[in-house]
Amino acid sequence: MSKESGVGIIGCGNISAAYFKLVPMFRNLKVVACADINPAASAARAEEFGVEAQEIEALLANPAVDVVVNLTVPEAHYPVSRRTLIAGKHVYSEKPFVLTLEQGEDLRRIAETNGVSVGSAPDTFLGGSHQFARHLIDAGRIGKVMSGTAHVLGPGMERWHPNPDFFFAPGGGPILDMGPYYVANLVNLVGPVKRVVALANKARAERIIGSGPRAGEKVPVGVATNIHAILEFASGAQVALMASWDVWAHRHQNMELYGTDGAIFVPDPNFFGGPVEVAGTDGEPQEVEVWDHPLTAKNFEFDWGMEANYRGAGLADMMDAVATGRDYRCSLERSLHTIDVLTAILRSAEEGRAVDIVTSCTQPEALGIEEARALQR
Ligand SMILES: NC(=O)c1ccc[n+]([C@@H]2O[C@H](COP(=O)([O-])OP(=O)(O)OC[C@H]3O[C@@H](n4cnc5c(N)ncnc54)[C@H](O)[C@@H]3O)[C@@H](O)[C@H]2O)c1
Repeated sequence: MSKESGVGIIGCGNISAAYFKLVPMFRNLKVVACADINPAASAARAEEFGVEAQEIEALLANPAVDVVVNLTVPEAHYPVSRRTLIAGKHVYSEKPFVLTLEQGEDLRRIAETNGVSVGSAPDTFLGGSHQFARHLIDAGRIGKVMSGTAHVLGPGMERWHPNPDFFFAPGGGPILDMGPYYVANLVNLVGPVKRVVALANKARAERIIGSGPRAGEKVPVGVATNIHAILEFASGAQVALMASWDVWAHRHQNMELYGTDGAIFVPDPNFFGGPVEVAGTDGEPQEVEVWDHPLTAKNFEFDWGMEANYRGAGLADMMDAVATGRDYRCSLERSLHTIDVLTAILRSAEEGRAVDIVTSCTQPEALGIEEARALQR
C-alpha cells in the first residue's frame, strides 16, 4: 500500500461530515485541511474534526495537501477542480464532476499538462454487495445480460435538505444528481453505453423547502424532474432507467438485470451494501448470502438507521493507483462517460431523438475482498 496522501476538503456542507468521518478508515489517506467559500462552514467542520480551516487559495498552496476532495455544489465542481489542477494538486470530486463533456476534456488537458489525476464519486459501486453482483455476473450466474430496469423514484430532496436549491438548478434534477450512482453501477456490471433515448417532464414549477431555517421558502424548478430513459450498451443489453422526484409511492426495485440464464436483483446503487437476489431458469428469485467483503457491513448512522457507507473508497483506490501507476476505478474516463450518458439522456428528451454516446470506457477492474481489505487500515 502506498504512502499516506494529505487530503484537503473544499466544500464543508452536508456531505462533508461523511467524508471527514469515513476518509480516516483508509490506510493511505489523512485529512489535513478544509476550506469553503463560506468561512463559517469550514471553521465549523475544522473545529468538529480537528483539522485546519484555510482560505481556498491557502489550501491550494498547502504543501501538505496532495489531493483536494471537491464537495462543493454541482455548478462549482468544474471551476474548483480546475483551480485545483492548475495549483498542481490531484482532485477527487463529488458527482456530477462536470456538467458538460467540454468541461471534462478541459480538466483532462490540464491534469495531463500538470502531471496530476482526476477522479470522481460515486464510489458506491465498490461496495461489497455491488461487487458481489459483479462477481456473480462475471461468473456467468445469469448468462449474458440482455436487458433490465433501474428505478430511482421519490418525492424530492427539498423535504430534507436545508439548502436544496442546487437540486433544481442546472446540474441538478434526478438524472444528474442520482443518475451517476445508477450509470456508474451499470458500467460496473454491464460495461459502457453506446446510445440512449429518453422522455422527460416535470410536475411542479416550484418546490417548498421542508426543513431547516429556510423551511417554507420556495425554490424554482429549472430542470426536468421525471425522466424515462432507455440505455443501449456496447454489449447489446438494453436497460430502462426511470429517475423521478415526482413520485410519492411505488413498488419498483432499484435495479434488476435479466440474463440469458437468469436474473439478478441488485440493491440500491446509492449505498454500498444490501441484499442480492438471483434467479436461475427456474424463475425463482433467492437471496444469496453476500460474501465477506470489507465494504459491506452497516457501519454508518443515517437519520433512518444504519447503512453501509464507505465513501472515500474511490479516493483511496485513486491515490493508491497514482502512487503505483495503475488504472483507478473512479477514473476521469469512466466519470466522463457517465456524464456523457446523463447529458445525452437530457438532450434526447429535449430534442425527441436517440442520442449516440461519443465517449467510451472500459469496465472498472472488480474490487475483490483482498483488494478492498488492502485499502483499509
Ligand atoms: N448531501 C448528500 O447526502 C450528498 C450525498 C452524496 C453526494 N452529494 C454531492 O455532494 C455535493 C455537495 O452536496 P452537499 O449536500 O454537501 O451540499 P451543501 O450545499 O450542503 O454544501 C456545499 C458547500 O459547498 C460550498 N461551496 C459552494 N460553492 C463553493 C465554491 N465555489 N468554493 C468553495 N466552496 C463552495 C458551500 O458554501 C457549502 O458549504 C453535491 O455535488 C452533491 O450532489 C451530496
